[in-house]
Amino acid sequence: MAVERTFCIIKPDAVEKKKAGAVLALLEEKGFSILACKRMTLSKDVAEGFYAVHKARPFFGELVQFMTRGPVFVVALERENAVAEYRKVMGATDPAKADEGTIRKLYGGNVGENAVHGSDSLENAKIEISYFFPGNEVAPVAG
Ligand code: CMP
Repeated sequence: MAVERTFCIIKPDAVEKKKAGAVLALLEEKGFSILACKRMTLSKDVAEGFYAVHKARPFFGELVQFMTRGPVFVVALERENAVAEYRKVMGATDPAKADEGTIRKLYGGNVGENAVHGSDSLENAKIEISYFFPGNEVAPVAG
């Protein structure tokens, strides 16, 4: 199975609960390498750009307001089959429907405030990593 990279945001709710370290520790336990990680507060423009695909959704305004209300950690991750494996560890969008032991079950509150974001495909992982880590901030894939 191929080594892949994926992208995670530890959202404001999890940072407010002081669970950023717990999320990163869980990811390392599950075999992910943390390639890059930075704490930042998203501007409205950056949050709207990141979630542009959801622009027409009724919850878009609420989503942008939530994502800009406090600091987040943006994280680039690597392991074998990273996109699918991270989606398993992350759990369902709605924490109430997420499996036991997943990040969203452990630390999420509701469908809007669900602790973490994760890329849904390898293609989007590349786009999302370069959105927050431009240039060579994350070392290019070897070979
Ligand atoms: P995320 O993986 O960050 O991608 C888009 C986000 O939109 C999603 O997680 C949810 O947090 C959020 N979202 C999805 N559905 C709803 C909803 N019905 N109400 C509010 N936020 C939502």
